[in-house]
Amino acid sequence: MFQQFRSPYTETLNTTLRRVVDSFAGASTEFQTMIRYQMAWVNADGSPYDKSAGKQVRPTLLLLCTEAAGGNWQDALPAAAAVEILHNFSLVHDDIQDKSEIRHGRETLWRVWDERQAINVGDAMFALSYCGMELLTEQAVPSPVSNKAWKIFNRTVLELTRGQNLDMTFEALPWVSVEDYLSMIRGKTAALLAACGEIGALIGAEDEALAQHYAEFGLNLGIAFQVHDDILGIWGDPAITGKSAASDIVLRKKSIPVLYALERSERLRAMYARTSEGDEDVQAIIHEIEATGARDYNIATEEQYSHAAIQALQRANPQGHAAEQLFALTDALLQREY
Ligand code: IPE
Ligand code: IPE
Ligand code: MG
Ligand code: MG
Repeated sequence: MFQQFRSPYTETLNTTLRRVVDSFAGASTEFQTMIRYQMAWVNADGSPYDKSAGKQVRPTLLLLCTEAAGGNWQDALPAAAAVEILHNFSLVHDDIQDKSEIRHGRETLWRVWDERQAINVGDAMFALSYCGMELLTEQAVPSPVSNKAWKIFNRTVLELTRGQNLDMTFEALPWVSVEDYLSMIRGKTAALLAACGEIGALIGAEDEALAQHYAEFGLNLGIAFQVHDDILGIWGDPAITGKSAASDIVLRKKSIPVLYALERSERLRAMYARTSEGDEDVQAIIHEIEATGARDYNIATEEQYSHAAIQALQRANPQGHAAEQLFALTDALLQREY
């Protein structure tokens, strides 16, 4: 499904990703394997792996925005590699934070090695994302533009950690408001998609006012993306998402279906008040969430933000085939099953 959007870039993007990741020459073979495992290039024993991997939504979005703003997508490749590596850093730490044992249909990094090693791999990948950004100096990108891109990148990492902080803090609260939820997902997810829009467009057009429209597009798309992730987290098929369907519930995550249902179901509030031992009846909880109509409400919420994304994109007046692809990608994300 996502193949059609990323295929023009896949080969060159993957070459850039490998160049950045493999530039960590001082790392031992085992340490390299851990990083490459997260990138889904190898198995835990270092042998090649060519099955399911990430969708590469963020770099694809960034490169499409560069093109749609009238630029050369090749100029933005270092930034595209940087956002994908940063995203993977966040997944390594997120899987520890969320105690998630499965991602992309296989064991998470901390399960294969251990938490201490996985924290360290995340740290390395965080720095490697900056190594990606460094390569912007090799491109025909004027330094005021690359300086601004660095600034956006740094602010985005801070936003991401702010969001993760709220996400974990909310687990222990009986309920949070929709505003608090939106603030949390703006940080943990939407900020990076906003950065993809803004950095992509800045490199493409060197016009900060135009880049703001792309940032707004990415932010709304990112909110819709996380709402959809919350829906998949409960109703998704683990065989397709490659992730467990129970972990948000076991951890008492304040995902948007749960928030909606907690407000309407006394029984669910009672169920959630009990500390989960991990062996509870997750199906009974899902049934209770479903009975409140949470799923339809969430789909409507997602559509609302997806529509806001489309409106922001229209204000950006995107050009050419990339423009068509951005509108089509926004629609495709509403239908995604993984
Ligand atoms: C997962 O992101 C984390 C969220 C922000 C919801 P993706 O769904 O884009 O993950 P990959 O890159 O395809 O694995
Ligand atoms: C998404 O977190 C945000 C980051 C990884 C920073 P989630 O915890 O909601 O995403 P999944 O469901 O594990 O992919
Ligand atoms: Mg998670
Ligand atoms: Mg999380």
